[in-house]
Amino acid sequence: MIMAFPKNFLWGGATAATQCEGAWNRDGKGESILDHCTVGDREHPRLVTMNIEPSYSYPTHEGCREYDRYKEDIALFAEMGFKTYRMSINWSRIYPNGDEEEPNTAGIGHYRKVFEECRKYGIEPTVTITHYDMPWHLCKEYGGWANPAMIQFYMKYVKTLFTEYKGLVKRWLTFNEINFGTVTYGEIVTSGIIPASGRLVVDDPDATEEEVSRRFQALHHEFVASAKAVTLAHEIDPENQMGCMMCGFVYYPLTSRPEDVMAAQRDMEVWNYYCMDVMCKGKYSYWASRFWRERNITLKITEEEKEILKEGTVDFISFSYYKSDCSSADAAKNLGNGTNFGLPNPELEMTEWGWGIDPLGFRYLLNEYYARYEKPLMIVENGQGEYEKMEENGSIHDEGHISYLREHIKAMADAIEDGVDVIGYTVWSAIDIVAASTGEMKKRYGLIYVDADDAGNGTYNRYRKDSFYWYKKVIASNGECLGEEG
Ligand code: BG6
Repeated sequence: MIMAFPKNFLWGGATAATQCEGAWNRDGKGESILDHCTVGDREHPRLVTMNIEPSYSYPTHEGCREYDRYKEDIALFAEMGFKTYRMSINWSRIYPNGDEEEPNTAGIGHYRKVFEECRKYGIEPTVTITHYDMPWHLCKEYGGWANPAMIQFYMKYVKTLFTEYKGLVKRWLTFNEINFGTVTYGEIVTSGIIPASGRLVVDDPDATEEEVSRRFQALHHEFVASAKAVTLAHEIDPENQMGCMMCGFVYYPLTSRPEDVMAAQRDMEVWNYYCMDVMCKGKYSYWASRFWRERNITLKITEEEKEILKEGTVDFISFSYYKSDCSSADAAKNLGNGTNFGLPNPELEMTEWGWGIDPLGFRYLLNEYYARYEKPLMIVENGQGEYEKMEENGSIHDEGHISYLREHIKAMADAIEDGVDVIGYTVWSAIDIVAASTGEMKKRYGLIYVDADDAGNGTYNRYRKDSFYWYKKVIASNGECLGEEG
């Protein structure tokens, strides 16, 4: 029995528009980044194609068809007892190209209906403004976030959202996993810079100094846009709560050698705190100057922008947590192949996609973030991708999900007992959707099974997994019954 969770704890589940909606070219929607990414797998990176080629398969074009089935899905979320649904808005539904003056009314109307449907069941939407998504036109014609003109396009977009959905949405996340912008993977998915290699790789060791500078300049523009959005959101509705969203990285030293300990500290800093310090403290980390100097990174940062960053710090921190990795001063990091962001930890059991399962690392990270910033924390993604099969009677026995989630919820409860202020937790993912890094449908995270395969075959009908029933009990008991009680 765990008594840790506060009364109004926000239990729920999460998705992202480009991974679940489908309907990629309907009702006036423009093309988005992920619409140009082909299907891949653990060994084969997704390709980013300049045009939509009929010879390739683009999984986000179908997603799990949530655009058409949102009412059915939200009813299922309500059945589980969700208090919040973390979802994202597809920027190219609101501004199809991103640089037009007037928004697409069909897009605005769609999300209004979604939010109203959530509220009908008392589900509070938590909305990511951009989740691996921006209009393709802005990438192609403007070079994505490397171009400071992006700030004004983003501001026009967020002003539309804050005005149109005032009263319907009160919790916003400005950029999904903005910290991926520090490596090649994020150049396209978070910063909209089309990769020269045409592949969605984690890190490109051959990136030139100019490319690396461009990447960090793009991040700076995102920071400024995020800070301006925070300030504007508070002006439009003082009840708006604004969060940053990080991919939560845990790095342990591979050995107890001081050099490895130092390497782990550096990795924690670059992968987590480079972005968080700016968004939570309103200024770059004290070690940033040396970091830039040693990598020949040159940035344009104005005095006015420094003020904007100071004024627009976030109200809370949200992050995803899946796994932990190791750092070593010797070995080159195992980047660029598959979807790993560090060296595997020999002490940990791995998922089928090679991610180290580490609930204690979750507690560790919650404590680290809270100690550093003392802001409320919300975990907006946590889960495990699995191969699954539906039985003939429509049941899905996803024991792996249940045990992964159970152990992580226990670790979160421990962190709360440690004194960490945790306000909510949304499982990744509420329903089966297309995996972001590989584009696979078969890498299933959902509490609800969707009958579709990587090639888009299937009925797309929804089925409750065992984890659905289990999570329903967890929520009903406010985290006290985790299914071990017998
Ligand atoms: C997070 C992203 O990095 O991880 C999600 O915010 C993504 O969009 C999730 O789906 C899991 O990663 P993947 O690649 O297995 O889908």
